[in-house]
Parts: sequence; structure tokens; C-alpha cells
Amino acid sequence: MVDDTDVLLKEKRIFKPNEIILGKAIIKDWEEEIEKGKDYVNYWADKAEQFTWFKKPEKTLDDSNKPFFKWYVGGKINLAYNAVDRWIETDKRNQVAILYVNERGEEEKLTYYELYRKVNKFANALKNLGVKKGDKVSVYLPMCPELIISLLACTKLGAIHSVVYSGLSVMALVERVNDAEAKILITSDGTYRRGKVIDLKNVADEAMLQCSSVETVIVVKHTGTSIQTSDLSGKEVFFDTLMEGEPAEFEAEEMDAEDTLFLLYTSGSTGKPKGVVHTTAGYMVGVATTLRNVFNIHDGDLWWCTADVGWITGHSYVIYGPLLLGSTTLVYEGAPDYPDPGAWWNIVEKYGVTKFYTAPTAIRHLMRYGKKYPKKYNLSSLKILGTVGEPINPEAWIWYHKNIGREQCPIMDTWWQTETGSYMISPLPVTPLKPGSATRSLPGIEADVVDRDGKPVPLGKGGHLVIKNPWPSMLRTLYKDEDRYINTYWKEIPGCVYAAGDIARKDEDGYFWIQGRSDDVLKIAGHRIGTSEVESAFVSHPAVAEAAVIGKSDPIKGEVIKAFLILREGYNLDTKLIEELKKHVRHELGPVAVLGAIKQVDSLPKTRSGKIMRRVLRARELGEDLGDTSTLEE
Ligand code: WT7
Repeated sequence: MVDDTDVLLKEKRIFKPNEIILGKAIIKDWEEEIEKGKDYVNYWADKAEQFTWFKKPEKTLDDSNKPFFKWYVGGKINLAYNAVDRWIETDKRNQVAILYVNERGEEEKLTYYELYRKVNKFANALKNLGVKKGDKVSVYLPMCPELIISLLACTKLGAIHSVVYSGLSVMALVERVNDAEAKILITSDGTYRRGKVIDLKNVADEAMLQCSSVETVIVVKHTGTSIQTSDLSGKEVFFDTLMEGEPAEFEAEEMDAEDTLFLLYTSGSTGKPKGVVHTTAGYMVGVATTLRNVFNIHDGDLWWCTADVGWITGHSYVIYGPLLLGSTTLVYEGAPDYPDPGAWWNIVEKYGVTKFYTAPTAIRHLMRYGKKYPKKYNLSSLKILGTVGEPINPEAWIWYHKNIGREQCPIMDTWWQTETGSYMISPLPVTPLKPGSATRSLPGIEADVVDRDGKPVPLGKGGHLVIKNPWPSMLRTLYKDEDRYINTYWKEIPGCVYAAGDIARKDEDGYFWIQGRSDDVLKIAGHRIGTSEVESAFVSHPAVAEAAVIGKSDPIKGEVIKAFLILREGYNLDTKLIEELKKHVRHELGPVAVLGAIKQVDSLPKTRSGKIMRRVLRARELGEDLGDTSTLEE
């Protein structure tokens, strides 16, 4: 594991909140709130009061069958009802709920009332297609209003959505649709990216040849390409056609607090992605509470989270969090630097964004173009900034703070995961900040750094990041794979604590410094990708006999792939083959798999049982000590 402690230690300043932030803070006393959160069951019981329940829970936490925890036992609730219908009765009725903007400068606004009507129409349409509570609906859509309508309609009728990021490939889509046994696929003609229209329908078409569970494919006409009704196959139908004539009323399904809300696949240490299962009430409480407290969401805010809904960040903080708070969420489709590297700052100025949340890789990318782009715009509407996805290097933190935040906005460095559902370690607006640290666990959450035996490590020393108590928005299991759920998260460290798979250390103030993954998972531009997924993509090419990949640090992406390949007889790693391999891996895995370098080797370091020792490759690559190599065969 790379230890970037030295770099981090160079930035020693502590950034205190200013008067304006302090005055508006929802939580004024950080320590006091953390103290309250120590009684975590009561703390989270209290946070559930913010919603409209069909039936109130009888018990906040059932931990009698660890690690299968249950929250808000006996409660009946519907998320879409709380995110949309609830606001129709208030003066938020005509407030903009969704502000969709794209890189072409087009916009679409949906008020809560308009959103309500569309969600209901689409829920009726799904019901007519035979979709019932508990059915799975796969969604392969770009950032567009129909994506949000689709998810909320599923939630309203109790169907389980499974979003597949629109940048993923045919293979990934097939795998996820089949694992979920989805009845419906919702996709679109295409998406906009850097001035081009990217076809999604052809990916979906290719995937559908291998997905027998799908009965209907719903196609959103998003980019207005030339697909006509006559081009559709018997099981395909346009989104618009389905909505026509549907009633704008739909009664929300009474969901049990523990009914599954959605599946979201993420990479782990094996080639097979994990289907993370989130349930209804706990997830709602987690996302709404954390967003309100960390970003101080008030009436009048315009919230912009730049993540794609294909990832957990988009689920929790583009859609569900802000709508559960009755806020306005900006949904952006496009690249950060198109038509020019001032694109995002232009949007901030034009619409008056107040809270802005993005990834360190995006900041580093935009930083490269210099401060002249943000300087062109009036960014004074911004009050709080945030980051997520990977550790932020202090240099990028300072740039963000100065050039985007004008030294007025605290930066919320939020640590969490697909599995945690909502923020775990994060400052609050009143927290004194140290650039590069996500500070301490949020009230109601107890994180720690321990050794392999579960004992706390001394301050300043690296160890495994764990969460010691259950929390409402935690994953409940891995879809169809309870063993993997137990083994991955609850067996790594003794004592039934949640092992996050990250390496971290704590400093003298109890602040956490996350250093990276401890497993064979890479973080490329903040996206998780398993080394074994990349390796199997390589070996599916005829030229490759064996492959091992490791992460190599990259100034913008954080990490990129470095591959070591044993080629088959008759192949040579010339420029032509390198290009071909790059294309092949991209086709197999999608643009998330950014290749840094490919190296041809004669052998790979393996254990006697044949497992590739990536640790040895990493150590060699970085010129580090090899550590214990007693199990090394060659
Ligand atoms: C992994 C989870 C849920 C957010 C999007 C990524 C890394 C996430 C931070 C942060 C340092 C971070 C961790 C974590 N990570 N946020 N603020 N500082 N590292 O979700 O794909 O499930 O990845 O992202 O390594 O385990 P994900």
C-alpha cells in the first residue's frame, strides 16, 4: 500500500468555519452531537421522525441475527411518497425539484408537482407491463429526467431498481441484468458526451441477446436520434408511448421498512461484481440525515452533486437525499470541460448553485487548465463544497478552496461506500478542517482503525478501517450471496465489526486519514474496479495467455491500470497490439478502465497454489521492500 503520509503532513494548516457558516449551521456543536450519537439506537430512532410513515416502527434495531441487522422493524413506509408526494401538500408544490442541464446548454425543469404526475404515470405504465412489488427493473440510462422518473416510479410501486452505469460495456450490462433476473430494461437512444452523441441502444441491443429474463425494453428518446417505432422489436416500446393516456395518480405501495429498495453492483476482489442490497427505511433515514447535516440543506438551496446516478453517489445524493429534504437538485449530463473547462463554473453562476459536491479527480482535472476559468465566473452563490470517491490531495483541496470556494466555503470530504449507503466519516460545516482528512465519524457512527486482530492501532499508525456499530443505511446482504456478504465484511476482522476494505490512520485529534484500499480493488477516477475483472478482460483477447494488473498512481485519475502480460506463442507486444489490447479492454469494461501501461513478461509471481501475488508486482514497481515472500513459488 502506498503511504502518502509524508505528502499529507506538509499541509499543516487548520481551516476554521467562518461566522456566516457558524450562524447558519443546522448542527452548531460538533462535539455535543457526536456525544448524542453515542447512544446510536436512540439517535437513529429520533432521525426517523422526519418522515411520513404508514405505520411507525415498533423497534429501532434488531441485532439478534448478526450480521443481518434490521432497522425500524415493523415500520411501513414508501420512499417515493416521502420524496415527492409529501411536498405536494406544502408550498413546495411548485418549487423546482429537478433542474436538468446538459453540456449543450439545454435545460428542463420539473417542479415537485410535475415530477409527481410523471412518476405516477410511469408507475401506472410499469404496472400495466406486469411489474409488481419485488420485481427487478434494470436501468441503463444517461443522466436525464426520465432516469429519475424511472427510479421513483419503481420505488413508488415497490419494484427493485438496479442501475447500470451508462459508461459500462455490454459484458457488464449482461452480467448485472442476468444476476438480478430483471424483468424490464429501461434504456435510451444515446447520451451526450463532449459534443458527440454516444449510442447506448446498440449496447443494450447486443446485451439483450444474452438476457432472457427481460420481457420488455423501454426506450427513452433522449438524444432524438433516428430510431422510429417501426425500428423497435416486439418487446421494445418507447417511454413516451407508454406514458400516453396514463392517469397521473398512483397510490404508493406500503413497503416494509426492510423491503429491498434497490440493488447496485460494485467491484470486489473477485471477477464477479457484488450486488449490494439496500432496503427502504434505513436508507432513507441515512441519506436524508447525512445530507442535511453535512451540507446544511435549507430552503432556497440549489444542490449540485456531479456524480452519475450509475454510482451510489448519484442514488443517494443526486436523487434520494435532496428530494427527501424537499430541495432542488441539479442534474447535469456531460463532461466537466466541455465546451470548455469553465463549463461547470458557468452553470454555478448561471443558476446560482449554493452547495457543490464532486470528486477529487474532477478537481485535479480542472485544476490543470488553471484558475483563469473559474475566475471568469461569479461563484459567490457557493456556500459549501464537498468531495467524495478517493482521498483528496492537499494541493487539490487548497486549489478548490481558493479558486472555487473563494476561501469562504468549508470543504466536506465525505468518506463512504456503495455498501454504507450514506456518509460515514465526514466533517460538518462547523468542523475545523485539515486538508486531506475526512475528519471524524459522523454522529451516530463509530469508525476506528484496528489491526488484523481487531485491536485499535496506536495513533498515527496505519490499520484497517472498521465501523463498530450497525447503522440504518448499511447494506443488508449481497444479492444471492450471503456467504460472500459475511466473509467480505464481517469475517476479515474479529469481533463482528464491519471491515470497509480501506487502510487508514488516525491522528492525535482523532481525525481519519484514508490511504486507499487494502484489497485488490483499484480506484480509477474514483471508480471502483477489481484487478481480476481487468485481468479476465485481458485474457479474453487471443494474444494474452496470462495477465496480472496493479494500480499505478496517476496525477489526475488517482490510479490507472498497469498490466503485466504473458503473451501466447507468435504474438509480440508492438504498438499495434498495444492499441488493440487497449481497445479490447475498453470494449469489455467500458471507459472506466483506464490503461496506463502494458508490459510483456515471461512469468508472473505466484503462490504455490497458483494465486498471482500482485503485492510482489506492486513492490517491484514502486521499488519497495517485498515483505514476506515465503509463499512465493517463482
Ligand atoms: C471507496 C468506496 C461512496 C462514494 C463513491 C465511491 C474510497 C470514498 C473517500 C474519501 C478517501 C474515499 C474508499 C472507499 N473513498 N470516499 N472521502 N476519502 N477515500 O463509492 O465505489 O463504493 O468506493 O472509495 O476507498 O472504500 P465506492
